[in-house]
Amino acid sequence: MRSRSGRNHREPREALEWLDVAIQSRLLAEGTDAFRLADSSRLWVERFGSAGMISHQFALPEGLIEETRKRLGSGPLFVRQLVHGPGSANRPVRVGGSGTETTFSAHEAGLTFEVDFSSGYSCGLFLDQRANRARLKALAPRRVLNCFAYTCSFSVVAAAAGADTTSVDLARAALSRGKRNFERNGLPTQGHRFLEDDARDALPRLARRGEKFDAIILDPPTFARGRGGRIFRVEDHIENLLRMALECATEDAHILISTNCPRLDAPRLLRRIHAAADKPLCATPQPPPEDFPAGRAASTVWISHCDNSAHPQHPPRKKPSLDHPRAPLPTDAQTNPLPAWPSSGFPGGTAPPN
Ligand SMILES: C[S@@+](CC[C@H](N)C(=O)[O-])C[C@H]1O[C@@H](n2cnc3c(N)ncnc32)[C@H](O)[C@@H]1O
Repeated sequence: MRSRSGRNHREPREALEWLDVAIQSRLLAEGTDAFRLADSSRLWVERFGSAGMISHQFALPEGLIEETRKRLGSGPLFVRQLVHGPGSANRPVRVGGSGTETTFSAHEAGLTFEVDFSSGYSCGLFLDQRANRARLKALAPRRVLNCFAYTCSFSVVAAAAGADTTSVDLARAALSRGKRNFERNGLPTQGHRFLEDDARDALPRLARRGEKFDAIILDPPTFARGRGGRIFRVEDHIENLLRMALECATEDAHILISTNCPRLDAPRLLRRIHAAADKPLCATPQPPPEDFPAGRAASTVWISHCDNSAHPQHPPRKKPSLDHPRAPLPTDAQTNPLPAWPSSGFPGGTAPPN
């Protein structure tokens, strides 16, 4: 077993489960060639179009590269060891397929997304958000605000379904990739907004201008350092983010909150959401897509206003203030009674940090 000191490294071996071939065939028939092909808690294999990626925390199991090639074919195959901390330790290494390129196209529900295996921790498309992207499309919103937009995958899905989109991200490079994703799908970038900004500044500014959105995506990182070293920590800012989003939300809006923070599992996330709002909210957990076992995808809740008569009124709360970003975590006894939620099938948030 791996010791705490990191020496003596025989990792706990958990069987790697390969995705059912029938599910793979159905996904491919739906125009989706990006999915998790095999999964265990510290080792997984993903397909992104013609390319494959093996991510492993401990030693790479013998024969896994050959096994993956058998299942994926002769396309490019990359391996990366997940090491948290500074440096390029997570940078994928090419172990198969000819050529030297690192940028490929992946497809989801008929849309095309750029993936770049040289670009750091994530290659540009978070596969565990597939069900949320499908849900956004099904909602058919007219105006979408995508905060923490990264490569704008939610915006692309919404724009392809006819929505006007506003994508907010601190990173110019991420928004440039987002624009390229629009272009890859033949979507004009004019008429859609790409705001290089801190979501904590953009949200109140949009609210002051009276802008309203009928879908708002809040999929923040667990931790990030913004301009001037300004720290974002999802655990500290989740309530204020939601309150600020509600100020920009139409009456029948849908708001997605999603996080990989292991300390914000489903029950905690739900408690925090209800404690944050001064109106009764309906919160529906979104189960992970079928290639992600429960507990291995981001914790996700879709929120909408609900009928006052059906749910207890919450006490009014103060306007969001960034001077006091963290509302205290309510204890169970302080939390308002909640409407009944589904209690199973909800991911527990043990996925790697984003
Ligand atoms: C987890 S990714 C978002 C994933 C994205 N929703 C998706 O599905 O592809 C986090 C993104 O948040 C951005 N970010 C971090 N802190 C931010 C902040 N304070 N305001 C806006 N964007 C921020 C990062 O630049 C990064 O692109």
